[in-house]
Amino acid sequence: MFLSFEGIDCCGKTTQAKLLVEKLQSVNNTVLFLREPGGTEISEQIRQILLNKKNLKMTQITELLLFSASRSQLVTEVIKPAIAKGTIVITDRFVDSTTAYQGYGRGLHHGGVKSISSIATSGLMPRKTFFIDIPVQEMYSRRLASHQEIDRMEMSNEDFYHRVREGYVELAKEEPGRIVTIDGRQPIDTIHETIWKEVDGMLHTVNE
Ligand code: TMP
Repeated sequence: MFLSFEGIDCCGKTTQAKLLVEKLQSVNNTVLFLREPGGTEISEQIRQILLNKKNLKMTQITELLLFSASRSQLVTEVIKPAIAKGTIVITDRFVDSTTAYQGYGRGLHHGGVKSISSIATSGLMPRKTFFIDIPVQEMYSRRLASHQEIDRMEMSNEDFYHRVREGYVELAKEEPGRIVTIDGRQPIDTIHETIWKEVDGMLHTVNE
């Protein structure tokens, strides 16, 4: 089983992914949790390049190719072998991030982004994706409260984030069977229960 978490920055997807990992482990599942970009030695190096604030000269195409390169390495080196062994793989972001951020956010040609993404994943898609949706203003409030230093991607302007969020909303409309939209303003426990209900149902289907 392969599951991913998506949403704009500060939506709470990492917290939810970790809660799901703990829950799955508590009922004796072997789970692998990965973040994107990252998850392999090479992909973590690519992450440094992508997020480094010094790299302001990075073109949008370079950005697209680097996110995709990082993903390609992760899919081949880690995700596919883990799925083959029966491990449940959970990723904090996957290919929908590229569609939303580089396609909708940066405004790159959607067909081109799709082709590059499908080369990077060799067609592998999550069985279920949890899109934790928050308004852009909520992202700014949470970012302010966290006092964390912003990275190169987070230097993008407000319009960019509106387009990214809209991208996720569109993707969820296109693939309602795979993408589950959850209101990220709900309490952490309520969101976790919604996700667990969905995943528990999937586990029962797999085991029947
Ligand atoms: P993170 O903050 O969830 O760790 O993600 C790192 C940043 O990279 C975040 O701003 C979203 C961005 N990103 C893309 O723009 N495209 C992608 O394909 C991925 C995986 C992340």
